[in-house]
Amino acid sequence: MAIERIIDTSLHAEDADERQIESSLRPNSFSEYVGQDRLKKNLKLAIDAAKKRGEPIDHILLYGPPGLGKTTMATVIANEMGANIRITAGPAIERAGDLASILTNLNDGDILFIDEIHRLGRTVEEVLYSAMEDFKLDIMIGKGPAARSVRLDLPKFTVIGATTKTGALSAPLRDRFGLMHRLDFYTPDEITRIISRAARILSCDIQLEAAKILSTRARLTPRIANRLLKRVRDYADINGDGIIDTEITHAALALLEVDEVGLDPGDRNLLGSIIDNYGHNPVGLNTIAALTGDEATTIEDFYEPYLLQIGFIERTPRGRRVTAKGYAHLGKTISDID
Ligand SMILES: Nc1ncnc2c1ncn2[C@@H]1O[C@H](COP(=O)(O)OP(=O)(O)O)[C@@H](O)[C@H]1O
Ligand SMILES: [Mg+2]
Repeated sequence: MAIERIIDTSLHAEDADERQIESSLRPNSFSEYVGQDRLKKNLKLAIDAAKKRGEPIDHILLYGPPGLGKTTMATVIANEMGANIRITAGPAIERAGDLASILTNLNDGDILFIDEIHRLGRTVEEVLYSAMEDFKLDIMIGKGPAARSVRLDLPKFTVIGATTKTGALSAPLRDRFGLMHRLDFYTPDEITRIISRAARILSCDIQLEAAKILSTRARLTPRIANRLLKRVRDYADINGDGIIDTEITHAALALLEVDEVGLDPGDRNLLGSIIDNYGHNPVGLNTIAALTGDEATTIEDFYEPYLLQIGFIERTPRGRRVTAKGYAHLGKTISDID
């Protein structure tokens, strides 16, 4: 297994501490949910309208890089609607029958949250989008020549889907979502607010200046901000009196090898290997994966979005390329031979 990287945006689900922190820090309402103002505004409108009509809210698709708050937003929507939420994930629904049993157990107004919805199988996807369309479920009863199709009425439910890639969803499924929203990276100010809020909940003493330093190292991602806070807190408990000041923060970050823009040795190795082997020429994702020893999808989902966001790499029609800014971060310049 690959080494666990602190800046990895996936949930380290095998880490009990991380699971506990994620659930205790998860905002429950729009007012606690920091940032994503445009998304919140649109959702509030949709929720108010649905409530006024006494109907469930339209199906919602949330997309964007991991750790930005998609699962959190799904639970906030359920709370704001006063609805029950049932949480599942694409890979967990293996057969059409699994989906049928989930759907027939829902009640009117329930929310079905499907994480990683792009990982649903083709046949399951077909059952889902017809159910989303008219709240009916066609199932086959019996086998062979005696088999017949029965149409069941389903409760009026709402699907909230989350995905890192909308491109991987079939067009018919995508079309069933009345609301589609991209979650953006947060600003350092928003991350500072998230860190201060988390520190309050975890009762740890962090100076504002220290929170600001962390906010520039957290890849503009709440999940990483919370994880860094926890590691710096541990460091402060062991090497100081528990108070997180700027000195403790710098020392802890140096130990974690997270640099001024939130890159770790793995990121610097990725950028450096591309430059050393291919210079300024575009390279394919699989080539990058071969250079670093990661899975191509891991790079694409968990490491690359932030490098693109801060402009250290760019996508060209022929592949990815390190930008002048990326070169500069490693103390290099693009040369003529590149
Ligand atoms: N807008 C936000 N405000 C405060 N905390 C947030 C926000 N978005 C995410 N978080 C925190 O980050 C963690 C990861 O968010 P999550 O919803 O699981 O991300 P995703 O589902 O997009 O991978 C949550 O446990 C939550 O504590
Ligand atoms: Mg999630």
